[in-house]
Amino acid sequence: MSRSVQFPEGFLWGGAVAANQLEGAYQEDGKGLSTADVSPNGIMSPPDFSMEKFNLYHEGIDFYHKYKEDIALFAEMGFKAFRFSIAWSRIFPNGDDQQPNENGLQFYDDMIDELRRHNIEPVVTMSHYEMPLNLVEKYGGWKNRQVVSYYEKFAKTIFKRYRNKVKYWMTFNEINVLLHAPFTGGGLLFKDGVKNEQDIYQAAHHQFVASALAVKAGHEEIPESQIGCMIASMITYPYSSKPEDMFAALTQDRKTLFFSDVQSRGYYPTYMTNYFADNGINIEMDTGDLELLQDYTVDYIGFSYYMSFVASTDPEHQAGKASGNLFEGLKNPYLESSEWGWQIDPVGLRTVCNQLYDRYQKPLFIVENGLGAVDKLEEDGTIQDDYRIDYLRKHIYEMKNAIGDGVEIMGYTSWGPIDLVSASTAELKKRYGFIYVDKDSEGKGSNERLRKKSFYWYKQVLESNGEVL
Ligand code: BG6
Repeated sequence: MSRSVQFPEGFLWGGAVAANQLEGAYQEDGKGLSTADVSPNGIMSPPDFSMEKFNLYHEGIDFYHKYKEDIALFAEMGFKAFRFSIAWSRIFPNGDDQQPNENGLQFYDDMIDELRRHNIEPVVTMSHYEMPLNLVEKYGGWKNRQVVSYYEKFAKTIFKRYRNKVKYWMTFNEINVLLHAPFTGGGLLFKDGVKNEQDIYQAAHHQFVASALAVKAGHEEIPESQIGCMIASMITYPYSSKPEDMFAALTQDRKTLFFSDVQSRGYYPTYMTNYFADNGINIEMDTGDLELLQDYTVDYIGFSYYMSFVASTDPEHQAGKASGNLFEGLKNPYLESSEWGWQIDPVGLRTVCNQLYDRYQKPLFIVENGLGAVDKLEEDGTIQDDYRIDYLRKHIYEMKNAIGDGVEIMGYTSWGPIDLVSASTAELKKRYGFIYVDKDSEGKGSNERLRKKSFYWYKQVLESNGEVL
């Protein structure tokens, strides 16, 4: 691009994490059990209610006790923003409690104060891949309408408590995870293990309503707040220029865009209501639901971006599968893959940014992007993660190109600035951090924090507001 493009002043550079993947202390200070606490094998595997198997989420990287040390390291890199989630089960241990748990509220108060002390803007995900387990056991998860009011109470409680400290919020992490991991996304269990779309879309409707109620409550309590949706973006290319392949790609992407369509445009798109009618799916709605969706749409589009996918209608192309954390697609011969088979596609990020902005005309916030890789701790204590620098540099470069295309982007928080437990595989072997955590997938190690090579690289990116890549 010949024009000189710059990141806007105040661009929210930083990193993103989720409570259940790093806090640990899963039963401390009155926290209740969450769905993550019974998912020792990660989000794509069935839960284990016996809790007999070792569960790395229970201890995470002990951020609960070490957050001051970790935030100091984020500040050293020059973070402007830190995206984290509030564990619902720390605030309402059973989900349906009358009163919130003061210890849980105080923990986030202290943590947010620590961020603010370092001039780091807190960005809160209200529900990231977990919910109080009691809401699953007693109510059947999000398919039950009552859960909407418990979420609304949770939302109002945290808006009120952190009203002077938090401006940026997101209602549900990767809300489209419901389709792919219904237990993690919605606390849904199916008798024979076969997914039931009726329950999934009913749960989605309840989350849409809950999200709209949260936008309403958030704007009332904190007038300057910005409340976004968050989707796992999935860009799908047609395998060939065959028109049928193009349509297969479009259909595939609509499974994701449906969620942001409802949350951002404020109504169910016809392609989806037709899908419901064709498949005998009947969404129960209360009077006033459609108005709520229409009146309380999100302020910005938050999304994660890790990879792109390929679709084809041709049976002979179905053989080569590429994996991802939520779903599989076909292999793209033009792309390389990570050690976990995720296809690396920086230009895809530019395309996604343009597509989302064209569709919604609302600011975008890239709240997750990164490379999960095995790191080697050298004898001299260094970690030479050039592959991670290479991945991030290329993606940031394409984000900058998207800004040059005219897309409004609020910020970029890379996933897992400090190594944490993986969501899809529940391991620590797969690392995303600029900060190495000396701990393995079995939970062994000193838990010491070490700066990787990428730490110094990201620091100069932030110092130069994205000029030096
Ligand atoms: C996103 C999730 O889908 O991907 C995160 O929001 C997750 O929670 C991230 O950790 C990376 O996935 P994984 O499976 O490598 O941890």
